[in-house]
Amino acid sequence: MKKKIVLFASGNGSNVERICEYFKDNNTVIIDSVFTNNPKAKVLERIIPYNVSGFSFTKEAFTSGALLDTLKNSNPDLIVLAGFLWKIPTEMVDCFPKRIINIHPALLPKYGGKGMYGHFVHEAVVSNQENETGITIHYVNEKYDDGAIIFQKAVTISSTDTPSSVAQKVHQLEHAYFPTVIEQLLTNEVINEK
Ligand code: GAR
Repeated sequence: MKKKIVLFASGNGSNVERICEYFKDNNTVIIDSVFTNNPKAKVLERIIPYNVSGFSFTKEAFTSGALLDTLKNSNPDLIVLAGFLWKIPTEMVDCFPKRIINIHPALLPKYGGKGMYGHFVHEAVVSNQENETGITIHYVNEKYDDGAIIFQKAVTISSTDTPSSVAQKVHQLEHAYFPTVIEQLLTNEVINEK
């Protein structure tokens, strides 16, 4: 049986596209579906060439348990948040222990927490004149950007970098490492236990 991944995204979806590309025609891993809280999100266009099903959901479905029921039925091996901006309800975290991961565009615990997402992170990093930033892949718990860290990779920031050039550097790291970290997690015995 192939390992099943479900992806969550809120907008652009370049990470989702990269993950779909990496695992297309893969013998052991299948991207089952992509869920978004935004029916107009670009991610829904990006997945079309990969024949991956996309679904949008409302806040009501997210918080009432309706989406959780769908996920329980699907029973994915891994739920991957790839640019997903809502906090995961505790019931969902409890249902999928060590089976929900998130990517964050900074070196946690720096620049994490509520309101710290996307360009807000890169603006803060540049305005604080940091000389490095990076990516963090971590397990999801009931708090923002707080679960155990699985993987981090740093990149140097120069004095000429802007928030958008930092965003580009961070996206490059994400695209390079996120699919391989997912693959490694799916071959790890602990995460294989359902
Ligand atoms: C990514 O950089 C991801 O790390 C970030 O949103 C971006 C989505 O890009 N996630 C967060 O900030 C979560 N706190 P994408 O839609 O092009 O994949």
